[in-house]
Amino acid sequence: MESLLLAYDGSEPSKKALKVAIDLAKKLNAKLYILYVVDVRAATEIFPDIAGEIGEKLLETAKELVNEAVEEAKKAGVEAEGLVEAGVPPEKIVEVAKKKDVSMIVIGAHGYGGIKRLLIGSVSDKVIRMSDRPVVVVKG
Ligand SMILES: Nc1ncnc2c1ncn2[C@@H]1O[C@H](COP(=O)(O)OP(=O)(O)OP(=O)(O)O)[C@@H](O)[C@H]1O
Ligand SMILES: [Mg+2]
Repeated sequence: MESLLLAYDGSEPSKKALKVAIDLAKKLNAKLYILYVVDVRAATEIFPDIAGEIGEKLLETAKELVNEAVEEAKKAGVEAEGLVEAGVPPEKIVEVAKKKDVSMIVIGAHGYGGIKRLLIGSVSDKVIRMSDRPVVVVKG
């Protein structure tokens, strides 16, 4: 079965990307993987003493967010699976796309960082440059 990977951080732009990913998955009759990468590194550098606790909390929140997105996809009749991984977001997204052998990546143009820079955020920028798969960037 063909599959797609949605990079999802729970931000408004990534929710818009979720809608596009659901539409695409329906049209292609593809399975949808929904991936949230928890950047544990950032938290542990700032608060080394309570790094473990923060990591746990971040993973928990991530799982809830991903589950909500998976439910939305399933309600729309799409086969969906949530994935939560710890790591550096763009690298992990590219790695999972390869491992799951998806036919394309769907990603928002922006995330929580907002529309402060040029065209797109740093995560989508790096994914476009590093991935060997087609990348659908959802604007707005
Ligand atoms: N941790 C993450 N896990 C999965 N997908 C992510 C993650 N962070 C961002 N994304 C994906 O990348 C898209 C663009 O977000 P990005 O972080 O590049 O923009 P930004 O937050 O506006 O900018 P920056 O992070 O560079 O300040 C999001 O809509 C989402 O699809
Ligand atoms: Mg961001």
